[in-house]
Amino acid sequence: MTKIIAATHNQHKLEEYRELLDGQDLEIVSLNDYPEYAEPEENGKTFEENANIKALSGANYCDILTFADDSGLEVEALDNAPGIYSSRYAENDPARIARILKELDGKENRRARFVCVISIAFNKEIVASFRGEVYGKIIDEPRGSNGFGYDPVFVPDGFDKSFAELSQKEKNKISHRANAIEKVIEFVEDEMAILDDELS
Ligand code: IMP
Repeated sequence: MTKIIAATHNQHKLEEYRELLDGQDLEIVSLNDYPEYAEPEENGKTFEENANIKALSGANYCDILTFADDSGLEVEALDNAPGIYSSRYAENDPARIARILKELDGKENRRARFVCVISIAFNKEIVASFRGEVYGKIIDEPRGSNGFGYDPVFVPDGFDKSFAELSQKEKNKISHRANAIEKVIEFVEDEMAILDDELS
């Protein structure tokens, strides 16, 4: 079984990754197993740049196969804000949601998408980067209590429930993270033989 680090301290993301990678030939450990590790500054200008920064930094510290993601919400009528600033948009989840709803007040266009970019680093280099997206709309009021972040105000296309009203299993079938991790799994399966040689 290949050991892989999920370079995150975010417990919600980690739970989603553990479920998404369940059944794969991978043992997932997280940065919680490396308490001394200091996360790098996310000073990239794109999801890709930030995912690379996090994956490289994690890989340099832990020296095993590492993946990291950068994700966020892009709202069309807000020029794709908050985007890479999603976690820094306000102090906490309710305040972040309140800010989105306030800025969208009176705007008809509620189109939005979640983006997740996962980068994989190995031997101090980025070996691959994959993007997942899910499209939907922002509703007027938060609904539901599952998930995290902006889930209560995001209704994915083809559904009438918000991400926070869907079960984790349902969200994991269609989410931006699921979409990106599918590509990661394919890549790891295809490349594992090569990586295994280098790892041993
Ligand atoms: P980061 O990738 O840790 O920099 O932060 C991503 C931020 O985007 C999170 O803190 C959430 O606010 C938001 N976000 C990313 N993915 C999701 C999701 O699946 N549901 C709700 N919010 C999300």
